Amino acid sequence: MVQQVLSAAQRAKLDGSDDALFYAEPRFVQHLDASFRSRLTALYRERIPPCAVVLDLMSSWVSHLPEGLTYDEVIGHGLNARELEANPRLDRHWVQNLNRDQMLPLAEASVDAVLIVAGWQYLQQPEAIAAELLRVVRPAGQVIVAFSNRMFFQKAPQVWTDGSDRDHLEIVARVLAAQGWAVEAVIAEDTPAQGPLGWLGGKGDPFFAVIGRKASL
Ligand SMILES: C[S@@+](CC[C@H](N)C(=O)[O-])C[C@H]1O[C@@H](n2cnc3c(N)ncnc32)[C@H](O)[C@@H]1O
Repeated sequence: MVQQVLSAAQRAKLDGSDDALFYAEPRFVQHLDASFRSRLTALYRERIPPCAVVLDLMSSWVSHLPEGLTYDEVIGHGLNARELEANPRLDRHWVQNLNRDQMLPLAEASVDAVLIVAGWQYLQQPEAIAAELLRVVRPAGQVIVAFSNRMFFQKAPQVWTDGSDRDHLEIVARVLAAQGWAVEAVIAEDTPAQGPLGWLGGKGDPFFAVIGRKASL
């Protein structure tokens, strides 16, 4: 049973047209700067064992997994088939609009680690997705939700456009916990700008993550 956390108003967004239209053309760009990406990759190295089956939900042409490490399987999901086909880390992938259909075509207890990078902020039904992820993840498996402080504003629901960074962390943790995830870590860090600016104290994209753990058997 999905436990609702958001109000109807919090799910509304400026551009209510089909999300598939917005993602129809591939974007072969990095959505996050190099400082954020290197912090994310370090987190993956620390938390995901090589024997894991990994699901990169709301993915693109990059998965930010550590180079030189292979996993049992990496499954990708997104909204643009050409981006996913170009992602060298994915063993297989599928396309699905999660704001239209929240049921994932994956077997119960078949995944060890779910990654969502700069994607949660576009979910209008995050509770149903969090519940589905709990179903497909194995006991003791984890979900890592990472994001920074930017978004495609017109495509983000009001809960995200109206909230601060702290609010975003709090709502992701609340939605996960409401579906039965144990919130194991909440991370909020500055990152240093790359190169000389970083040596002078310049900042990169701030790094935020919420990590949920499914109970062991
Ligand atoms: C800013 S991109 C981030 C992509 C990738 N995770 C990365 O790190 O580069 C946001 C992604 O969210 C996904 N997305 C957005 N709206 C979606 C929806 N309604 N259903 C499924 N996926 C969606 C798309 O795959 C899109 O590539």
